[in-house]
Amino acid sequence: MNQDAPREEWASRSGFLLAAVGSAVGLGNMWRFSYLTAENGGAAFLVLYLGITLLVGLPVLLAEFVLGRGARRGPIGALAHYGGRGWASLGWLFVGTGFLILSYYSVISGWTLRYALTALVRGFPADAGAFFESVATGPASIAWHVGFMAISIAIVRGGVKRGIERTALVLMPLLFVLVVGLALYATTLDGARAGYRFYLEADLGALTDPKVLQAAAGQAFFSLSLGMGAMMTYASYLGQNEHLPNESLVVAIADFGVAFVAGLAVFPLIFALGLQADVGESTVGALFITLPKTFASMGGAGRLVGTLFFVALVVGALTSAISLLEVVVAAAVSGLGWSRHRAATLLGAVIAVLGIPSALSLDTLGFLDQLAGNVFLVFGGLMLALFVGWAMRDPMAEVRPGAEGVAWFGLWRWLLRIPVPIVLAVVLVQSLRALFE
Ligand code: PHE
Repeated sequence: MNQDAPREEWASRSGFLLAAVGSAVGLGNMWRFSYLTAENGGAAFLVLYLGITLLVGLPVLLAEFVLGRGARRGPIGALAHYGGRGWASLGWLFVGTGFLILSYYSVISGWTLRYALTALVRGFPADAGAFFESVATGPASIAWHVGFMAISIAIVRGGVKRGIERTALVLMPLLFVLVVGLALYATTLDGARAGYRFYLEADLGALTDPKVLQAAAGQAFFSLSLGMGAMMTYASYLGQNEHLPNESLVVAIADFGVAFVAGLAVFPLIFALGLQADVGESTVGALFITLPKTFASMGGAGRLVGTLFFVALVVGALTSAISLLEVVVAAAVSGLGWSRHRAATLLGAVIAVLGIPSALSLDTLGFLDQLAGNVFLVFGGLMLALFVGWAMRDPMAEVRPGAEGVAWFGLWRWLLRIPVPIVLAVVLVQSLRALFE
């Protein structure tokens, strides 16, 4: 394929929407969201997170959609198209961030896949801690990570319509059903009340804690797949008459909704056995040790529910991983003239190798996640807001096609100009401090 070949497009609006929601909804909604909520004051975090999603995340999401659709190129090409050479370097950073995030994201996804299959075939092992040790260390951890990468590569090789869109159309509805079903099931548990209370009761002191703000902003960016060009890349396969403000609102609400409903399942489950003390221990503990402990002790029902829970996670992880890989692949296809097959296979293999340190060390994985989520994505979002808010010539003309009647575009641009950069700059300084303290 060369640069002049007609660009592939989504077959349908719902295909694009489900793919974008698929990118947003992933491990972030269940793994990251639940431990951050537990660590940062329950409902106080939730409220702050919702506020940031709407006031900071949503404007940046719309900005990414606008740039991608208008330029019909991946992030490097899109930023070069609108901003010239200097801004194109931001696109390079995005592609680099794609490599970085997918390298460890795929490691966790590999564990998730193994948990789902183990639960299905043998049930949850009684000693959850020991099982996690054996899953998350050594060659086994590498092998499942590589396996997961292979699946992602196969889908991205299939192309936008036949690979990514088809996968999202089949898997995302399944994920919604599973998450809602799990939350309904959780209402029947003994610990449900205590779980809800912990989840939904606000520790008001947390609202003024800058650490909580920082965690909420990092999480909003990570969860919405913002600040690294994934949404830009997906929008680059759109026709020109899509109502982008509506699309971005749907994606933001769906992403928050799934995280919220997943919390309604996770917290009662954790409290069902009174295992809440375990949760804060490590960032992966809640999902990979505490919950499996709960499932193991719940007998047959636990095995079924646990299997479905991990299947939902695998589905979310996969539809997010393919969007990360697509950023990198789209850049190589349009920038280097590579074929999609070649780009997906070679770059996917490079990412598999880059993930090995994370597969072998939880500390490395945790560090990279902080670095990517709280620093790179936030920095990327800050630069995008500055670009569309101040530098880009006429963003209003670019957002309008397909959304002519919308009156609040002025507000959108104002948010990108002033409040969004201020919040993100504060968060970025905080995050850098926290990283090196
Ligand atoms: N949004 C995904 C999640 O919540 C992760 C992701 C981040 C995907 C950045 C793409 C880009 O799991």
